[in-house]
Amino acid sequence: MRFYGLALIASAVVLGACGGGDKNASTDTTAAVTPAPAAGATTGAAAAPAAGGVAPAPATGKTWDVKMYGDATGYKFEPADLTIKAGDAVNFTVVDGQPHNIAFDPSTVPAAGKAQLEANMPNPMSELNSPMLLNAGDHYTISFANVAPGTYPFHCTPHLAMGMKGTITVQ
Ligand code: CU
Repeated sequence: MRFYGLALIASAVVLGACGGGDKNASTDTTAAVTPAPAAGATTGAAAAPAAGGVAPAPATGKTWDVKMYGDATGYKFEPADLTIKAGDAVNFTVVDGQPHNIAFDPSTVPAAGKAQLEANMPNPMSELNSPMLLNAGDHYTISFANVAPGTYPFHCTPHLAMGMKGTITVQ
């Protein structure tokens, strides 16, 4: 009984090895024709969206200053609404009331500018969200170079409920 069992296992192993060998051989053949490049492309595609498929574009124009405040009188970006030119950058600086951040809602930014804006935001906390700025004097600069014209609404995540929001209009 035990011997018979072993024999069965042995033939299963042989069959398995055989089947596996055939399968591997055919996989290798297929891989040499198409799947190998496809696998490479898949890996590339997986990496590309992470980077937005777009390279960061350094600012070539003016850098605008926006201050971030919070106290008993309210939480705000100052100025809250800004109109800039293509190639400009915006530097957000914490004055008080921190932590603050700069968060664009992926569903409200102009679709044509989304990927470039994402690429231009270093160390994002999540999609189109700057890191949290924890200290007075902390700042975060966003280049709007190559970001499509349009109005980009943004807010501060911790203080959205207090109305801390604004817009950047790229001409
Ligand atoms: Cu805030």
